[in-house]
Amino acid sequence: MSVKRIAVLVSGGGTNLQALIDAQERGDIINGRITAVIASKPGVFALERAAKAGIPNCVVARKDFDSNRAMSAALADKLKSLNIDLVVLAGFMVILTDEMVRAYPNAILNVHPALIPSFCGEGCYGLHVHEKALEYGVKVSGATVHFVSEECDAGPIVLQRAVEVRENDTPETLQRRIMEQAEWVILPRAVSLFCQGRLKVEGRAVRILKPLNLSKECLQ
Ligand code: GAR
Repeated sequence: MSVKRIAVLVSGGGTNLQALIDAQERGDIINGRITAVIASKPGVFALERAAKAGIPNCVVARKDFDSNRAMSAALADKLKSLNIDLVVLAGFMVILTDEMVRAYPNAILNVHPALIPSFCGEGCYGLHVHEKALEYGVKVSGATVHFVSEECDAGPIVLQRAVEVRENDTPETLQRRIMEQAEWVILPRAVSLFCQGRLKVEGRAVRILKPLNLSKECLQ
């Protein structure tokens, strides 16, 4: 199987991008290579992380397009021209439309900082997710990696991990614990599984296939 070319789409600080870069450097992204980082805004710190790791990076700015649809079509063209196999949304704050989803069916992964179907959908992103979880009073939250479909945050779920909510949590402390204990763990793992061809989508469910030969992940 050829090595999968991965593009990571970002809009902010890029800690999830960093988790992917670190995993790649440890050899934990089996059969995949991050070959491009694309930001939706200029000047975001994620671009510095990409540059430091020697990964080609560029900006496709939301403000240069009239709509999410026009931006999605331009992004799909760009990703196809780079021969990208897997698109990873790592804190990417633009909702992609059918133009992108059809160009990459079951080949776009998104990390969301809650246990979907809770605290997700349009307008539920970043710190807002944790504000809503604390307002609701849940005792457990977490993160989800899922395939992107035409409906926001509703595609087939690949991996989830639960994280406890503490009584004195603020949105910021909960966000940080969910990143450390869940997002930075399950996103690289899902990307590696995809690159090994081990994710099989069956309706809403994603089956994780056994590895073909003994890889690092079997030993964890
Ligand atoms: C992360 O918590 C990510 O899950 C969330 O934004 C943060 C980005 O942080 N994404 C969403 O809310 C998307 N719905 P990062 O730029 O440091 O990776």
